[in-house]
Amino acid sequence: MTDREARQARAARLRRVHAERFGPGPLRFARAPGRVNLIGEHTDYQLGYVLPIALDRDIWIAFRASESALARAVSLDLGEEVALDLKVGPAGPPGHWSRYLHGLAAVLRGVGHELRGIDAVVQGEVPTGAGLSSSAALLVAWGLALADAGGLALEPAELAHAARLAEHRYAGVRSGPMDFVVALHGRPEGPILIDCADGSFRPVPGPPVGAVLLLTWSGVKHELAATAYNERVAQCEAALRALGALELPGLRALRSVDEGLLEGVRSELEPVLYRRARHVVRENVRVLAAVSALEAGDAAWLGRLLRESHESLRDDYEVSCAEIDTLVELACGVDGVFGSRITGGGFGGATVTLLERDAVERFREQVAAGYRAARGREATFLEVVAGAGASVGELTGSARWC
Ligand code: GLA
Repeated sequence: MTDREARQARAARLRRVHAERFGPGPLRFARAPGRVNLIGEHTDYQLGYVLPIALDRDIWIAFRASESALARAVSLDLGEEVALDLKVGPAGPPGHWSRYLHGLAAVLRGVGHELRGIDAVVQGEVPTGAGLSSSAALLVAWGLALADAGGLALEPAELAHAARLAEHRYAGVRSGPMDFVVALHGRPEGPILIDCADGSFRPVPGPPVGAVLLLTWSGVKHELAATAYNERVAQCEAALRALGALELPGLRALRSVDEGLLEGVRSELEPVLYRRARHVVRENVRVLAAVSALEAGDAAWLGRLLRESHESLRDDYEVSCAEIDTLVELACGVDGVFGSRITGGGFGGATVTLLERDAVERFREQVAAGYRAARGREATFLEVVAGAGASVGELTGSARWC
């Protein structure tokens, strides 16, 4: 099946289910992609730089506005339906996908948007629990659907902010802006550099000719990942407070701190806070170096930066885990690999590896066998294919967005 036929089949399935459940009529579609972060980890909530790539794996929502006060949504993947009262709530149980839908509706209502009823069918191709940001894809697609159905004037920056608040309040994760910005503005040509201080972004070339990016999923997601993530956010804030207490001028976030400044006040910081801050400060420098490496088409340089990023996340930021460290070590031992590191929030999930295209088969074999031998687990691989940022509109017969 070609990509176009696959999209047509996907759209036809959503239309069929929507008609069966909610009756015939015209439909609109919203979609948003997952993402992989190439480099710039745990910098976004300190207003730093990130370099993510939107994936060609996305979530689709087929929808139609209704006259009721309800948002009704069927999840094709889970075989579940939820009905949310758009006027009052209440939110679904913790961890349930409906909390995202409810949460975003509540945030939008809270800032004065009048929501209309909506009947929707949701279907996704972003692997969940793999650190590929399926929750941000769901939030962004849902936000576009709600805005379209209700005729809301909702700028992308406002949607990104509202989605982030919904994740904070209803999923309990104090995430940064990265996942929402890349879900909205990602591009099939390659990564975008986001400056999280003001949300601005610009395109950056993809991997040099002959090199590819490969995701390796560890099969591990630690239970306390959200708690540990929030703890890192709080530690950065504590480091910033300690630095601010030293009356450093204009200090708004660790983004404004350079290594010389940090070294100068090292003795004033608790060792753990110093290490957290050092990761953020150095990672920001690495992101800008990675942009230069991509612009120069220098895979070896980019690979070194990925390895350094991993070491820093493992030792200073302590968001890796034994399984992921094994995957990175195995990856770096394969001939043709430039570099590898943990990607996403951490505590499990996936690694991203830059390697020669010709080395992909060898890589899969060696890493799968090594991982099985060392950890008794199966690794899963996915080649990173960049995809377009979110969109909303009608789907024509050829499944093109307009
Ligand atoms: C998660 C968060 C992002 C970002 C990454 C770490 O994916 O949602 O905002 O902080 O972790 O870089």
